[in-house]
Amino acid sequence: MSVVGARPNFMKVAPIIAAIDKHNEELPAQVSAQGGRDAPEPVNHVLVHTGQHYDQAMSCSFFADLGLPKPEVHLGVGSGSHASQTAEIVKRFEPVLLEVKPDVLVVVGDVNSTLACALVAAKVSIDEPGARPLVAHVEAGLRSFDRTMPEEINRVLTDQLSDLLFITERSGWRNLVREGVASEKLHFVGNTMIDSLLAYRERAEKSSILEDLGLSVPKNGSCVCTKPYALLTLHRPANVDTRWALLDIIQGVIDLTRKYTVVFPAHPRTRKRVREYGLEAYFGPNGSNRELDRSDAVGDSGAIRMIEPVGYVDFLCLMKNAALVVTDSGGIQEETTCLGIPCVTVRENTERPVTLEMGTNILAGVTQQGIREAICRQLLSKPTGTVPELWDGESARRIVDVLICEVERRRARLARASATHFEQLDHRTVSQQHPSFRPGN
Ligand code: UD1
Ligand code: UDP
Repeated sequence: MSVVGARPNFMKVAPIIAAIDKHNEELPAQVSAQGGRDAPEPVNHVLVHTGQHYDQAMSCSFFADLGLPKPEVHLGVGSGSHASQTAEIVKRFEPVLLEVKPDVLVVVGDVNSTLACALVAAKVSIDEPGARPLVAHVEAGLRSFDRTMPEEINRVLTDQLSDLLFITERSGWRNLVREGVASEKLHFVGNTMIDSLLAYRERAEKSSILEDLGLSVPKNGSCVCTKPYALLTLHRPANVDTRWALLDIIQGVIDLTRKYTVVFPAHPRTRKRVREYGLEAYFGPNGSNRELDRSDAVGDSGAIRMIEPVGYVDFLCLMKNAALVVTDSGGIQEETTCLGIPCVTVRENTERPVTLEMGTNILAGVTQQGIREAICRQLLSKPTGTVPELWDGESARRIVDVLICEVERRRARLARASATHFEQLDHRTVSQQHPSFRPGN
């Protein structure tokens, strides 16, 4: 069973489901090669959507884009405070687990859905005391060391609850060992978000988003950028949930609009805040700009071009062709690293240090001055990043191989334990009937 809930979960889970499908497709050949002996079994997979994100643009569109199957279970939790959202997921997820009884629960990333479902699985007893699924955390060990971030709390707790921890970069391994997690539980497998990026990179070439935004024109069967643009995303509560913080960031970015169109697919949290804080003026006459209107698409000098969040393939296309990405997203730091696109991260820290060490990412902090300087630096320098170790499109296959192996090992262990138990019971029954009988006689 795997769980999705919020936007960054879909692209992390999709490759795992694809790898399971591939494993199942390849089974008949393996079974006949092994003459049926010790042949692996097919993996049944159940997808659960908690409903943490629910808008077409934050959830549904990703199912179409990433070829995800319709979730077998939808918990429909929706938005709420951290406590109420987490509690609601916990409450609604437990009966699902008790009914489906999976061997493994896979959770990804660091959102509330991740922690809530891991917590249920780590404490549940299915049919008998202590019988529960293995909990596998994909993207384990990342640490910003900033406990004011709700995600950091979700990461630390999910890792402590997990039996199998799948790591995307070496810092994750070090962090987990330092926190006392046994190294037998750790698997450095690479990054499933990058599996998705590599799988959909070519499809992104065919996206019409640049044309729709008036940033390119078709020429000889492909699109040619007519105007350099930068891509902006912001949604961290620390950056957008107070007026002064959001305003300072906007002022740090606004100079960019002199030379570049700044395309801003705004997260619903941020869009709401822009309205609430009366900051629409920074987003031009079409502050709410719901429609992609070609007539005003180019030449937004002085204003940031705010649009609805875009689908996965369109967003890949926007990242690939951008002169610069400015963001506070976790995943986008990794994707720009892989694409070799300069990235300015509007945060004081990152839980993904490999994007700074090897990639094209720099930390700008959250002040307008810091952001301005970081943008200038990135625009002046040529990106020289390299793609981190094991970000090669094979991470999900590695994960599925480990999961199959671990489930088989656990089944074998349980079978041995139960055989020993029955043997002891047999001996006890016999010795009760024949007091002179002792095991080993
Ligand atoms: C969540 C994750 C964050 C992740 C982000 C990805 C947690 C604690 N946070 O933050 O780590 O980076 O998703 O996008 O899990 N809303 C809508 N429609 C939706 C979803 C949300 O309008 O489909 C609005 C609601 O007003 C909601 C607000 O956005 O209250 C915040 O949503 P929530 O899921 O609580 O947190 P995110 O900021 O999206
Ligand atoms: N993304 C998208 N459309 C958008 C913005 C982001 O498809 O309008 C994708 C992006 O490519 C990445 C993921 O969403 O794969 C990142 O999600 P987000 O920034 O919401 O979450 P975070 O990574 O910060 O947890």
